[in-house]
Amino acid sequence: MSAPESALDLVPVLPVVVIDDLATAVPIARALVDGGLPAIELTLRTPAALDAIRLIAAEVPEIALGAGTIVTPSQASAAVAAGAGFLVSPGCTPALLAAMQDTGVPFLPGTSTVSEVMSVLEAGVTEMKFFPAEAAGGAPYLRAVSGPLPQARFCPTGGVTPASAPGYLALPNVGCVGGSWLTPADAVAAGDWERISKLAAEAAALR
Ligand code: 3PG
Repeated sequence: MSAPESALDLVPVLPVVVIDDLATAVPIARALVDGGLPAIELTLRTPAALDAIRLIAAEVPEIALGAGTIVTPSQASAAVAAGAGFLVSPGCTPALLAAMQDTGVPFLPGTSTVSEVMSVLEAGVTEMKFFPAEAAGGAPYLRAVSGPLPQARFCPTGGVTPASAPGYLALPNVGCVGGSWLTPADAVAAGDWERISKLAAEAAALR
C-alpha cells in the first residue's frame, strides 16, 4: 500500500504489534485485515521488526503498514526503506521530528505535555500520538487540551483498553486510539489467528 494521507484516520483502533518471531508477521497482518482492521503499527522493538515490515509490505499489500517505536532519526529512514507507509514515535526530539518530516510519509510524533504539543504544532504538524495515554491523564487530559489547542489531533496509546477506547473516540480531537490488546502473546504463540481476527472485528466496531 502507498503511504496514507493521515495515520489518524485509517481505523478506529490502531493495532500496536511486537513481532518476536518473523513467521508470525504475515499471519498476524492477514488476521487483522480479515477482522476489519487493515492497519498495523509494527514496533521496532525486536530484531525481527524491519524484516517483518519488509515481509508484510510484500505479502499483505492491502494493509496500511506503519512502523512504531521510532526513537532515532536513522530508524525513521530505515523503516520507510523497509516499506513502512507511516511512522509513530513514543516521544519527540527536534532531530527526530526533522527526520520523520524528511521521509515524506505521514507520522505521529509522541507527545504527553501541552508544551510538547505546542512544539509539534510549531513545526507545522497537527497529528500526533498521546503517550502514555492513561498514565498521562487519559481522556480528561485530551478534552482539556482541545480548548486552547483545537487544531491538535491525537492517537492516544498506552493503557487504552476496549472499555476505555469509546470514551477517547468520542472526543473531537481523537482520530483513533492505539493498543496492543489485539495481538495477545498467548494467541500469537498458539497461532490462534481467528482470535486475533475476532478481537480486530470487535475493535473495528468500537466506533
Ligand atoms: C505503545 O508502544 O504505543 C504502547 O506500548 C502500547 O501500549 P499498550 O500495550 O498499553 O496498548
